[in-house]
Amino acid sequence: MIIKTRKEIPSSEITPESVYRERRKFMKTGAKAAFGVAGAGLLSSAASAQTGDALFARAPADINLASKPDWLVEKAAMRTDAPASGPFNTDEELTPFEDVTTYNNFYEFGTGKDDPARNARDFSIDPWTVEVSGEANKTGTYTLEDILNPHTFEERVFRLRCVEAWSMVIPWVGFSLGDLLKRFEPNGDANYVQFDTLVDSDQMSAQRSRFATIDWPYQEGLRMDEAMNPLATIATGLYDDILPAQNGAPLRLVVPWKYGFKSIKSIVAIRFTKNMPNNTWRDLQASEYGFYANVNPQVSHPRWSQASERRLPTSLFNPRRIDTMMFNGYADEVASMYADMDLRRFY
Ligand code: MTE
Repeated sequence: MIIKTRKEIPSSEITPESVYRERRKFMKTGAKAAFGVAGAGLLSSAASAQTGDALFARAPADINLASKPDWLVEKAAMRTDAPASGPFNTDEELTPFEDVTTYNNFYEFGTGKDDPARNARDFSIDPWTVEVSGEANKTGTYTLEDILNPHTFEERVFRLRCVEAWSMVIPWVGFSLGDLLKRFEPNGDANYVQFDTLVDSDQMSAQRSRFATIDWPYQEGLRMDEAMNPLATIATGLYDDILPAQNGAPLRLVVPWKYGFKSIKSIVAIRFTKNMPNNTWRDLQASEYGFYANVNPQVSHPRWSQASERRLPTSLFNPRRIDTMMFNGYADEVASMYADMDLRRFY
């Protein structure tokens, strides 16, 4: 057996996950001992200063993107920690980086789980703009920097439960969607907010297909109170790096108490609306997918039960089947928003 020393590990094997775990270890032990300070932000910069580039070194092949904007990579690496206890963290085992980035739903790049990782290799996020419109005072076209720069990123470890009954635990980098939306000053008629994904058939291979069933752009929406709930997150990264293309670079939603299809990727438009907006999966099959899509083990999908889920990674001999929790385990934070609603009817 060949045992590799650190020096011999090719850069392609230094994944964001291994960098992430090294950094965590350092922050938990070395940095705390050395500096005796508590602020997570301080720890991040202290760790970076102590070890130079080593901890943040990235192999170019790490993630799928034509190029990675330096300012965004730095911002992701300098993220703070969310409070250790409470809904922004969990002790559950993290889903490995490899699974998070190779088992994806991103129909713009194909319908197979491994299509996005394969087909989104040269996806470009530079330049990137977001068009803000509708019932708000500050509408217009914003650059990615305009959108992200005012916000401090933090790590939020959430469960992601797909409507297909698999789940993951992902260390996202991001901030509350509500903090972004407030900056556009939505007016009294803004009851909902809708999001669009990029349409670019040169880059997104499945948008060129004659067989695509989705009427692009992929769209999603939230009621305003849902959007302002602090758990609703704009994710800009995972595992301390920026988002790989297949996970929705450069910015996506993560709505942890709802089925994964609400967590729209690669957002280019935000629209404040008076009436309930369209969302792609309801548009495709309204009898199976609703607007609310709250994780609910008591309401089956017409073709399968939602009472349990497979926690990835699974294998034939280790299916890792676990019970699904109401609102994906976030009931304390979100159940009150649906107190008067029949969740069988509003699925
Ligand atoms: N966003 C876009 N634009 N296109 C998609 O096909 N799939 C959704 C959601 N966001 C999808 C999307 C579904 S069904 C799920 S489960 C999650 O993304 C999966 O996110 P992940 O691939 O990062 O795990």
